[in-house]
Amino acid sequence: MCGIFGCVLNDGSPAAPLIHSSLKKLEYRGYDSVGIATLSDGKIFIKKDQGKIDEVDKILNLDDMPGSIGIGHTRWATHGAPLKVNSHPHTDCTGEIVVVHNGIIENFLELKSELQNLGHEFVSKTDTEVMPHLIEENMKRNPQLSLEQAVLESLKRVEGSYAFAIISTREPDKIICARNESPLVLGVNHKGVFCASDIPAFLDVTNKAVMINNGELVILDASGYRIKKISDGTAVTREPITVEWTAEMAVKQGYPHFMIKEIHEQPEVLRNTLRIQDHYLDLLSTFLDRANEVFFVACGTSYHACLAASYMFSKLSFLPTFPVYGSEFVEQCGKSVSIDTTMLAVSQSGETADTIAAVTCAQQRAATVLSLTNVIGSTMTRISRVYIGTQAGPEIGVAATKTFTSQLSVLAQLALKLSKKRGKISQDEIDCLEESLQKLPDKVETIVKTQEEKVKQIAKKYANAKVFFFLGRGISTATAYEARLKLMEIAYIPSIAFPAGESKHGPISLIENGFPVVFICPRDETHKTIIGNIMEMKARGAHIIAVVEEGDVDIKSLADDYIEVPKGIPSILSPIAYIVPLQLLAYFVALERSLNPDMPRNLAKSVTVK
Ligand code: G6P
Repeated sequence: MCGIFGCVLNDGSPAAPLIHSSLKKLEYRGYDSVGIATLSDGKIFIKKDQGKIDEVDKILNLDDMPGSIGIGHTRWATHGAPLKVNSHPHTDCTGEIVVVHNGIIENFLELKSELQNLGHEFVSKTDTEVMPHLIEENMKRNPQLSLEQAVLESLKRVEGSYAFAIISTREPDKIICARNESPLVLGVNHKGVFCASDIPAFLDVTNKAVMINNGELVILDASGYRIKKISDGTAVTREPITVEWTAEMAVKQGYPHFMIKEIHEQPEVLRNTLRIQDHYLDLLSTFLDRANEVFFVACGTSYHACLAASYMFSKLSFLPTFPVYGSEFVEQCGKSVSIDTTMLAVSQSGETADTIAAVTCAQQRAATVLSLTNVIGSTMTRISRVYIGTQAGPEIGVAATKTFTSQLSVLAQLALKLSKKRGKISQDEIDCLEESLQKLPDKVETIVKTQEEKVKQIAKKYANAKVFFFLGRGISTATAYEARLKLMEIAYIPSIAFPAGESKHGPISLIENGFPVVFICPRDETHKTIIGNIMEMKARGAHIIAVVEEGDVDIKSLADDYIEVPKGIPSILSPIAYIVPLQLLAYFVALERSLNPDMPRNLAKSVTVK
């Protein structure tokens, strides 16, 4: 997730100060590097560097660039570390075609090698850089092509998600934009036209916006904007709408809180996790394949992802893995670490002090450290041997939601990859799981769309409960732990989570009439046994709230309340779907209790002290 902005100003005023201030408003989309390109007197001017916008501005003075046309970018690294060389804008060999991009070009490696064979020189590790070179190549092959036609030709080759803004000295009066799956919106007023990843970027300047759809190309110039279909070039007429949002509402895209916005972003984020380059998964799984024992190390929500992953790796790749809390690792496992140890550290921020301490301990004992994080360029990416990004984009709500499901998706892909390497499960099973992974974003979308109202009602009913129980079996134990953490941290209701089987060894003594117990019940090999566990709780007066597969009449008939999840989600992937209604439950219970879910008391997004 990155932010792009561009403007064509028709009153001769300089574009750079507006691009700079607009990028600041998009900083919530990414903030590890920034760059601006402007056009003046047929020349391109570029300033860019790694670092937050204010830091880079202090050194480069971003406002001081000539020209009334320009584009800018604030970056959240996915391909290539946050370094100046990887910062946008990117150019072709001649420096005449300049591109900013939000999204992921899935086939960039193939395009890059094709272009390199044709003599194009690449300087960055980004996927984006293929685009200016593709345009250059198309214009070289056919000098009659306009910039617009060359962009269209190039888009035919690009697979993946994108919102592009492109300028060129060859047609220095315009910006060309294109959209597929990454957001793009235009702003208009009497002074000019603006393109951006999101409305807050230009809300100070205008509240007249034009939404751009997937598959559309836009030409911005002093006369305004023209929209065309990428597929056949037909013109699209679309009038601006008036946006009534305040600036604060706009950053949250109209949602009242970041947490609910981020819950709703999960289908898109999951789609992005499926675009991770295969060779990263291959590399990490090769290290895991060599390992005799693997420690999964993390804190908080990331630990729950590790717990779920231990079931995935055991079931799919027959690899024993040990999930350990970052804060306990040194005491619990420190002395047993050796050159033969492999550690996979998981952290949204890549900065959690306890996880970093565990990594340092492992390194000192010559272990192999791999990591999974949402922040490329974080401490963890710098100190681990190999890392992989979770592609979730910045998460602002303190309670992790989209980063949890994105971690699970990447971990599932890794387990599958290793499974293939080891040949432990049948090809049919692998195909079936891969297909299910592909379908999961849509299923999560269905859950959010169809269950939110129902969850709201359940939240109303139980908002004053004194205690909650969360129970699951097998991999759903991890879902139970995570659901409990969500409710506890933002709704301040003391909550207990256990593997359902363990509940008989103590926790059941707490049950009295009306005690809410949430059961996570995918229709997997634990289904029959969990029915027994539900009966035990019911017999003691518990109120059962079950998260079930659609049409699961057995459990629905036992439950006081139920939430339905679409059919056909394999057990191993179930936490990705089954956690979603429970994130919603925590959110709505917090609202019922008049609490701000984005800012739970005493908590921090990133805990950098031990
Ligand atoms: C804090 C956050 C949690 C997060 C945990 C681990 O407690 O509030 O949401 O799960 O840290 O953070 P990490 O960045 O390492 O995943």
